[in-house]
Amino acid sequence: MQLGPYTLSSNLFLSPLAGYTNLPMRLTVRELGGLGWATTDLVNARSLLERNPTALKLVASSAEDRPMAIQLFGSVPEEMRDAAVVCQELGAQAVDINMGCPVKKVVKIGGGSAMMTELVGTARLVRGMIEAVKIPITAKMRLGWDDDNLTAPDLARVLEDTGVAAIFVHGRTRAQGFSGTVNLAGIRSVVAAVKKIPVIGNGDITTPVAAKHMRDETGCAGVSIGRGAFYDPWIFHRTNHYLRTGELLPEPDFAERVRVLRRHFERYCEFYGEAHGARLFRKVAPWYAKRFGPAKPFKHRMITITSRADFEAALTEYSAWRAQFCDEQGNLLPKFQPAPMVASFMREPGEADVFGRESIPVPKGPVDVW
Ligand SMILES: Cc1cc2nc3c(=O)[nH]c(=O)nc-3n(C[C@H](O)[C@H](O)[C@H](O)COP(=O)(O)O)c2cc1C
Repeated sequence: MQLGPYTLSSNLFLSPLAGYTNLPMRLTVRELGGLGWATTDLVNARSLLERNPTALKLVASSAEDRPMAIQLFGSVPEEMRDAAVVCQELGAQAVDINMGCPVKKVVKIGGGSAMMTELVGTARLVRGMIEAVKIPITAKMRLGWDDDNLTAPDLARVLEDTGVAAIFVHGRTRAQGFSGTVNLAGIRSVVAAVKKIPVIGNGDITTPVAAKHMRDETGCAGVSIGRGAFYDPWIFHRTNHYLRTGELLPEPDFAERVRVLRRHFERYCEFYGEAHGARLFRKVAPWYAKRFGPAKPFKHRMITITSRADFEAALTEYSAWRAQFCDEQGNLLPKFQPAPMVASFMREPGEADVFGRESIPVPKGPVDVW
């Protein structure tokens, strides 16, 4: 597919997950294949302008980390404009604007005309950014405040007219948080609202079949995967293969999962330094474990690691413990195999979420609008 001036190798995107989709994660996923485009965690425009070390770490990239967009948030037009210029200087292929929820609750601020006022202001901010840089500007949003205020189609239309190169839409409202089902009809209405630019659908894709289903049901040009890439960093490779051939590749086995877990961990150590990297990796390792089968001791042990040696010891201990659940070839016995993953929008009524709400860590605070 085409995004602005770029022809992408696939129509699969890595969604920004603050605290996770850093350079080590992006390189790990890219190496497995199938990923067409990745976006950094969101960065505060002002912090980037101030060259805040944390902000600079968030936008750190490398030659293999391409194509790459930097996601900015902020509401001061001049800061967003100048920060976009910094992103361009840093070598980003695009700047993505985190819009969270498109507009404030319409009823609260006086109905449709207030909404339009807000849209005009947003368009002005975005236009300032577009005029300041040569690289494309994209926008990421939710469907709207709640089911009665699905404002994303209006916003998408205004943004296309302003010159935005692509729209990413998480198919939930602000009121939904991360619960309930992703609304495919809502995504479809955003696709219908724009004339030419690609709309990328997002939300709850955990399997290649779910990715195809979202594309088929909404007409979106591509799909963006966040948490699904943590359960299964191979999801881009497997989805790309499925979309191209119709063949569903099996999920990777334990040995392959451990190989990639190690690569990911090693990159954390290189990027953050061993002690800090090991500490930060404590919240990453459990995501891999979700497809290990029985893994309680692994999760317990991993949340205390402080070094490479510690990580290796934890892995060795766990592998020995896990053997009791496996056959002679080392494959999990059927009764210990994790249940197949099913996206929210593909579950039968009443069918339970394999992971359960509480097992997907969504940070509290303003981020609940993502
Ligand atoms: C831990 C976490 C961090 C997130 N950080 C961001 C972010 O920095 N910027 C953003 O636009 N969305 C962020 N999101 C939202 C995701 O990009 C995505 O829209 C949402 O998780 C739905 O997609 P998924 O089901 O594939 O994860 C975050 C979500 C989670 C769970």
